[in-house]
Amino acid sequence: MAKRISIHGEWTSHWGFIVAATGSAVGLGNIWKFPYITGQNGGGAFVLAYILSVLLVAAPALIAEVILGRRGKQSPIHTMQTLVREQQQSRLWVGIGWMGILVGFLILSYYSVIGGWALAYIPRLVSGLFSTVGSLPKEQATLFVQGTFTHLIEDPERLLLWHTLFMLMTMTVVARGVQAGLEQATRFLMPLLFVVLLVLVGYAMSTDKFMQGVHFMFNADFHKLFYPNCTPASCEFSGRGVLIALGHAFFTLSLGMGAMMVYGAYLPKHFSLLKATGMIALADVMVAILAGLAIFPIVFSNGLEPNQGPGLVFNTLPLAFGKMPFGSFFGGLFFVLLVLAAWTSSISLLEPTVAWMVETKKFTRVSATAWAGFFIWLFGLVTIFSFNIWSEVKPLSMFSSFANKTLFDLLDFITSNIMLPLGGFCIVIFAMWRMRSADILEELELPEASTRYKILRFLMRYVAPFGVLMIFLNAIGVIA
Ligand code: PFF
Repeated sequence: MAKRISIHGEWTSHWGFIVAATGSAVGLGNIWKFPYITGQNGGGAFVLAYILSVLLVAAPALIAEVILGRRGKQSPIHTMQTLVREQQQSRLWVGIGWMGILVGFLILSYYSVIGGWALAYIPRLVSGLFSTVGSLPKEQATLFVQGTFTHLIEDPERLLLWHTLFMLMTMTVVARGVQAGLEQATRFLMPLLFVVLLVLVGYAMSTDKFMQGVHFMFNADFHKLFYPNCTPASCEFSGRGVLIALGHAFFTLSLGMGAMMVYGAYLPKHFSLLKATGMIALADVMVAILAGLAIFPIVFSNGLEPNQGPGLVFNTLPLAFGKMPFGSFFGGLFFVLLVLAAWTSSISLLEPTVAWMVETKKFTRVSATAWAGFFIWLFGLVTIFSFNIWSEVKPLSMFSSFANKTLFDLLDFITSNIMLPLGGFCIVIFAMWRMRSADILEELELPEASTRYKILRFLMRYVAPFGVLMIFLNAIGVIA
């Protein structure tokens, strides 16, 4: 194969890739979403289902996506064009790249609004806004904390301010390029994120409910996972919890939209992809578990419920931080953690579009970032308004399963439940069923006869596509 080089530059070392890709993977999904879906789906057994999903489905799919990127060396659209030519396949496969750019655009438009909420909560905690809740009766305290959140999301101007700030932070990094921007920022931000997370876990360990948190996260009660709606009269089996774990494993490794593909494009040759992807998956799982270990003991020691849903972080936790000693400090730190995680992920959501625009030769990196960032920012208004002036706009209300979905709910649902799995499915199928196996072998740098290769090939060829298909079929309601 002729040596291709990325016009955007490459990571200065393999660590550069591992840290940046871990930054993409570790995001709101790990710290905001994982704890509440674990809470809703029964704890330990769900955690186990999630770890298995990462190991058997998401990590093999990650390898496939990085392989495509490293071989094509460009943005997802141009990478797919190059590979389609090289492998003599139908041009329809380039659709993977186009869809990736579109999904990245859509996800970032709402990801940035939620990143903005996290930013907005830092001054609220640090200023001690919630420290009065300790002296209030329980109901009033709950009302106060919930009122603070409602007050924020019902105010479009305030949301716009924080969304703008978050988008500017993201654009500043991307505009500086692969080495000076993406690599340098993540090399600084990711260790900081780990330190903050460990401090918070340390704090949770000092509460007397730490063991209850550990128990909740690790005690695998499969009955709760498979029979969630048991009443004394009836008990019905449901695979939904497992499918949620599978879908989450996929989202949390940033798969299906070309983010990992473009990061792979900046990866120098001759570095074990297996080692790198193993490290990224491990770090991602670890952060999710540590986030749970930081959050649940605090929730339990304040007599709160772990199954509060999406509001867990914004509606439940501030109540706990308000009541505990040094709550303003640790609460502030928690939201700093959330911002760091969201920031390093949002960079990877913007990069594929910017890389593609630069490759068309019509834009410099700075102007590409400015234009892409501007349009994403503008589209973010849809999410902002979904929480206030358009909160009653429910365009698919004629279908019962979408009856209550606002524009934001639909955007989230369509991107993470339909477009990402569909993109991911096409990526693994292209890599493992359309590319020459000699080329895949060359990228994996494994002997064909080795057991490791045989296992990996089985996972990538059969298990991963099957798993991703299940997520998709579940999302469109074919299976439950
Ligand atoms: N992995 C991120 C998270 O867990 O929050 C979300 C994400 C980032 C998804 C980048 C897709 C992506 F391309």
